[in-house]
Amino acid sequence: MTTFRVTGGRPLRGRITVPGDKSISHRALLLAALAEGTSVVRGLSGGDDVARTRLAVQAVGATVEGDKITGGRGRLHEPADVLDMGNSGTGIRLLAGLCAGFGWLTVLTGDGSVRRRPMSRVAEPLRLMGARVDGRDGGRLPPLTVRGGSLRGIDYDLPVPSAQVKSAVLLAGLSAEGDTVVRQPVVTRAHTEEMLVECGAGVEVSPDGLVVRLHPSPLRPFTLDVPGDPSQAAFWIVGACIVPGSDVVVDDMYIGPARTGFLDVLERMGAELERVGERSVRARYSPDLHGTGVSPGEIAGLIDEIPILAVAAARAAGPTAFHDVGELRVKESDRVATVIEGLGALGATATVDGEGLHVAGGAAFTGGRVQSYGDHRIAMALAVAGLAGEGTTVIDGWEAVATSYPGFDDDLGRLCGS
Ligand code: S3P
Repeated sequence: MTTFRVTGGRPLRGRITVPGDKSISHRALLLAALAEGTSVVRGLSGGDDVARTRLAVQAVGATVEGDKITGGRGRLHEPADVLDMGNSGTGIRLLAGLCAGFGWLTVLTGDGSVRRRPMSRVAEPLRLMGARVDGRDGGRLPPLTVRGGSLRGIDYDLPVPSAQVKSAVLLAGLSAEGDTVVRQPVVTRAHTEEMLVECGAGVEVSPDGLVVRLHPSPLRPFTLDVPGDPSQAAFWIVGACIVPGSDVVVDDMYIGPARTGFLDVLERMGAELERVGERSVRARYSPDLHGTGVSPGEIAGLIDEIPILAVAAARAAGPTAFHDVGELRVKESDRVATVIEGLGALGATATVDGEGLHVAGGAAFTGGRVQSYGDHRIAMALAVAGLAGEGTTVIDGWEAVATSYPGFDDDLGRLCGS
């Protein structure tokens, strides 16, 4: 286990480009594997999650050489071994959807965290489409087996607002007979439908973004420069807001549906943010942050940013409530528990009440020793709390950060001028 030490009180200053968006990177690899020819994808996320998806598409027959990915239905085949998706919930669920389109057997697994995460949410719709999906605990937990082929399109109401489930169903729908329709209770990240359009697939999205209809179609190859990941930008933006003397500009960040809800919440809290041009955000130290309420309808649009928003909320004056956060319990860690514990160890107070996460506000972070619990976003959020704190904060389990942001330490050093 590796440990990371952060010294508090050093302002963050300068311009930064964050790594390529993780959600878009997974989808780029999967869609390029299905597309008939060679796609060019520059700036993929360098984290372990996306590296696993790259290995998985190679294992099913796509060729990856530098930024060129050659795919096509005729090239793809049964993988010769189990596909180990590591820590990646997106990887395992989206792969299940893609593989359901083929008559082969795929066995998908992951690390201890992924093997505890619920898979019925993808297994059930894929079974409705005609795939045979099984797994531990009656098909609820990985390892998962998928034997697909001969699928039929379905009209599916998502029981949870999950872009991963929507995407798994749409990827399977590409190989189905007839149209596939996915209906969402709230808008979730729209990368799959946006990228399917770029590949020439027959996709229609309702004006409110809630209903996606896919007509099974061959995909054409594409060229993509993966934009920066707003979920990673959030660490520097919140860091700038809570460490006195900070002034940071994050450039070339993806701005689109269900990804920038954290900016709206921070603005509501009184953060000094400026949206510069189409894809840059400037954040400055914001001495007048105050608590807010985050409604159930907002949660899907900032689900990955709740740990770092909770850090901002702990520093703000007055309480903040995140309503309806049940989905947080089934992320890389039980983030309701790990946020409460991590903030508590650094001198702040957060509590849970039913499905609500409440952060007391008004805290001065004290420094201390905290655990990542194998969760990259918990590790990075607590590092930012450490920057705003007194003395030293020690984070155990720092290796988890490599899941999504292996260069986080270097970027932190650069922004802090060390
Ligand atoms: C993701 C969707 C979200 C998010 C995850 C990435 C995606 O998960 O938390 O980090 O790329 O589709 P859910 O679909 O479970 O909400």
